[in-house]
Amino acid sequence: MITIDRLKSPKADVSTLVILHKDKQGMIESKLLDVEILDFVNKELKENNRTFFAFNKISHWLVVAVVDIVEPQYKNVEALRKLGGKLLDFCDNEYIKHLQLVTNLPKMYVIGFIEGMLLASYTFDAYKTDPKKCIHPFDILSVVHSEIESKDIEEILIIARAVERCKDLVNEPYCSLNAEGLAAAFVNMSHEAGIDVEVWHKDKIESEKMGGLLAVNKGSVDPPTFTIMTYKPERAINEQPLVFVGKGLVYDTGGLNLKPGDYMNDMKEDMAGAAMMASAIYAVASLGLPIYVVGLFPSTDNRPCGNAYASGDIINMYDGTNVEVVNTDAEGRLILADALAFAKSYSPFLVVDSATLTGAASRAIGPFGIAAVQQKADKYMSLMKQCGNNTYERIAEFPFWEEYDELIKSEIADIKNCGPGEGGMITAGKFLAHFTDYPYLHLDIAGVAMFSNKKDYINKGASGYGVRLMVDFVKSLVLNKDIE
Ligand code: BES
Ligand code: ZN
Ligand code: ZN
Repeated sequence: MITIDRLKSPKADVSTLVILHKDKQGMIESKLLDVEILDFVNKELKENNRTFFAFNKISHWLVVAVVDIVEPQYKNVEALRKLGGKLLDFCDNEYIKHLQLVTNLPKMYVIGFIEGMLLASYTFDAYKTDPKKCIHPFDILSVVHSEIESKDIEEILIIARAVERCKDLVNEPYCSLNAEGLAAAFVNMSHEAGIDVEVWHKDKIESEKMGGLLAVNKGSVDPPTFTIMTYKPERAINEQPLVFVGKGLVYDTGGLNLKPGDYMNDMKEDMAGAAMMASAIYAVASLGLPIYVVGLFPSTDNRPCGNAYASGDIINMYDGTNVEVVNTDAEGRLILADALAFAKSYSPFLVVDSATLTGAASRAIGPFGIAAVQQKADKYMSLMKQCGNNTYERIAEFPFWEEYDELIKSEIADIKNCGPGEGGMITAGKFLAHFTDYPYLHLDIAGVAMFSNKKDYINKGASGYGVRLMVDFVKSLVLNKDIE
């Protein structure tokens, strides 16, 4: 990861980025630039709407970036994140190792820039025999800004590291990360951040009768796990916990309803919900936020082995519900349902789950946000949407009308594990909501957990999507103290 430090004033002969914003006339004014450069920039701005300039000063570079300030504010922060990604590419291409950022923009925009640069600097090089080939030449960003303190930088770094942990886990292939491996990674993260952790292995899962998790695991040669992370600081603002649940499906073949063609290609990503939620708790604990949070992470792979569960099977779940299996590829909801039913024992004030649950969510909104539904959690959904805008990991709320309940009624059991296809993201949510009795918010990250191409400050592969969202959500809860 690149290093971030602070400077009181700019140094000579160090490559410098000056970020300026347009005034009402669409021009820039700044004492930081020579008159000739200022005139040139203004001329180019006016005539060609050019906003990015790089001047080679032989010993160093001077880069000038001009940004618009628009409403709402969060769009500017996102523009600055993108600029961070762009500057990293520029520095790497020009072999610039050290850049100083000089700007008078408001603090939150500077934080956005730093965040964008840090997130963009991620590489997954565990399997490169020559890891040097992946290292960015760029090394240090020095920030010259009166309001940025070392604790701000520490906070951005903690969050960026948590996003990296999430990306590493999602990028790791199934052959080196099965359910036991995922649980072991969560144990390591918990020990690092001072979180209590317990891993249930197959015998305990059997004695607890987690029928959904065990059914999906039947075709696997690897045993399932159920990880419980508990972060309960002494000065927590809540007595009833906030519970995070994440789908830890380490590889989804579809089971006997085997996924066709290319549909299986990225299915190592099917544990991204668990990785996102565990990484968020890791960040929350590392930041020392005063909130009691529990993470529940059921994990297995889904395979069509000799003993695999089959469509037509009826499963007796952890809470006693009988589920008719209509499609073994709708497995995520089966393992999550047991975790959600178990979450009742905590009397949580809110449960949020995250899962790469349905292709339907991805088809509905594409790779631009998270599809979400809620039950009895209207107020928390509003907050989640705000946090979605703040972090630009946006939330699209889908309807949750009772008519959808009809679609998963079963003739021979209590409910079935999927509906007819239409409204697939919502019927999946309805299935999950059956196992809850508390305020509940469901996030479907199927469209965003993995990117097929680099996009601004997010590289190809695991996106780490949702970690920043959840940390911002927890920070907002702590700030508002609006918990009941
Ligand atoms: N893991 C998949 C969903 C998925 C699809 C995640 C694409 C990431 C990218 C999930 O287990 C699944 O297979 N869902 C089925 C449900 C269907 C059988 C009701 C789907 O969406 O097709
Ligand atoms: Zn599936
Ligand atoms: Zn799946």
